[in-house]
Amino acid sequence: MSGYILAIDQGTTSSRAIVFGADRKIAGSGQKEFTQIFPRDGWVEHDPEEIWESVVWAVKEALKAAKIEAADVSAIGITNQRETTLIWDRQTGKPIYNAIVWQDRRTAAFCAKLKAAGHEKAITKKTGLLLDPYFSGTKVRWLLDNVKGARKRAEKGELAFGTVDSFLIWRLTGGKRHVTDATNAGRTLLFDIGKNRWDKGLLELFEVPAALLPEVEDCAADFGVTEAELFGAAIPILGVAGDQHAATIGQACFEPGMLKSTYGTGCFALLNTGKDMVASKNRLLTTIAYRLDGQTTYALEGSIFIAGAAVQWIRDGLKLVKHASETGPLAQSADPSQHVYMVPAFVGLGAPWWDAEARGAIYGLTRNSGPAEIARAALEAVCYQTLDLLAAMRKDWKGGQDTVLRVDGGMVASDWTMQFLADVLDAPVDRPTILETTALGAAWLAGSRAGVWPGMAEFAESWARDRRFEPKMAAAERKGKIRGWDAAVRRTLSS
Ligand code: G3P
Repeated sequence: MSGYILAIDQGTTSSRAIVFGADRKIAGSGQKEFTQIFPRDGWVEHDPEEIWESVVWAVKEALKAAKIEAADVSAIGITNQRETTLIWDRQTGKPIYNAIVWQDRRTAAFCAKLKAAGHEKAITKKTGLLLDPYFSGTKVRWLLDNVKGARKRAEKGELAFGTVDSFLIWRLTGGKRHVTDATNAGRTLLFDIGKNRWDKGLLELFEVPAALLPEVEDCAADFGVTEAELFGAAIPILGVAGDQHAATIGQACFEPGMLKSTYGTGCFALLNTGKDMVASKNRLLTTIAYRLDGQTTYALEGSIFIAGAAVQWIRDGLKLVKHASETGPLAQSADPSQHVYMVPAFVGLGAPWWDAEARGAIYGLTRNSGPAEIARAALEAVCYQTLDLLAAMRKDWKGGQDTVLRVDGGMVASDWTMQFLADVLDAPVDRPTILETTALGAAWLAGSRAGVWPGMAEFAESWARDRRFEPKMAAAERKGKIRGWDAAVRRTLSS
């Protein structure tokens, strides 16, 4: 049987591949973690070859698990960690340096300089973004200035820049295509999201030669065909979206006002604002939710840099648990009378604070505090930060009634965390039956383009809820906890 769709989800800590059947059920998957490289305080890199190898491995594994051949796959959809920046040689396909990861803060001083010179307002107007090292533009500039000969070679057109999607497509198509999609382009600080094109003024400001840039396509488009020898048959790549945009699609948040929050390495909440490019007054981002048939749908986005990464730290850094899944039960056993707060600003703070210099802190420790209280503080911090994002969104979005928050990502498997989230938000939280929403979104882009999956309306109809978490916490308790969190954040900010 053919009609299978393969989703490649290249994330911050692992590469995953998922085969979906024509019935949209998961037929098989493969996943591989790869090395996180921390060369200095605030620097985060990935080895591009390790990313590539992990993707190829995961795809082969997924095909094996689904018991199918590459020839049975109708199309591939790619979704990826956004903003992570690569530059490679157009001749050899070899990267000139490691990938600089979205969490990396090495360009903080340059961002501060541009901000002090008064550039932020105009940049935000075009890109919807803020002057923060998070985005690709300043990372590209850093690579050109710090890798010997890179700037000259870039100017001569010998090098190519791309986010991870673009790099993977280059490799998958044997260097035939240098493309990206509008959602990924929109996170570079170089792309005008209103006009949907690379912006000359921004390229000049960030000193990025146009010769480096990929072509920008819709999210469902012809991105080329994989080299037959890679997996045993040539497969068309028909869908691409940054992971948070793919999750918005996978959660079927197609109507203005619909809202999702994904708990991966970081946490990213996106509110669909339809055709309106809503400018935030509360330090949220304006972003392209998706672009289909040349039509752009926008979103307001709140970005938190550390969510699942805090659990990873509890497991690998502090070694308080062996498996991430033990964190929820450990947190649940914490002493309710202790008020321990963790502000996980390991790589600075994202929305709505945007403080690149802040670093993590734990408050309220007593001699009775132990692993359980720290685990609880880590999980609670993710929920408090979601509250901060949603509060900012409510102020920015006048487009009508809020809908229920749809959640996904690894952390939402914990009932305890989801209940606490509903409690601090004082609003219901919906968990879908398919938690692989990011991969599902990428698969829908490719599957609908290939004509083997239904269109938007029917796909949205099929979204199903596993469980709704209703708020239960008494108002006084909630308010007290939130006051404690606000105080902890204030003490953590760098200025
Ligand atoms: O903007 C960064 C984001 O795309 C990374 O997502 O899932 O790796 O936390 P994730």
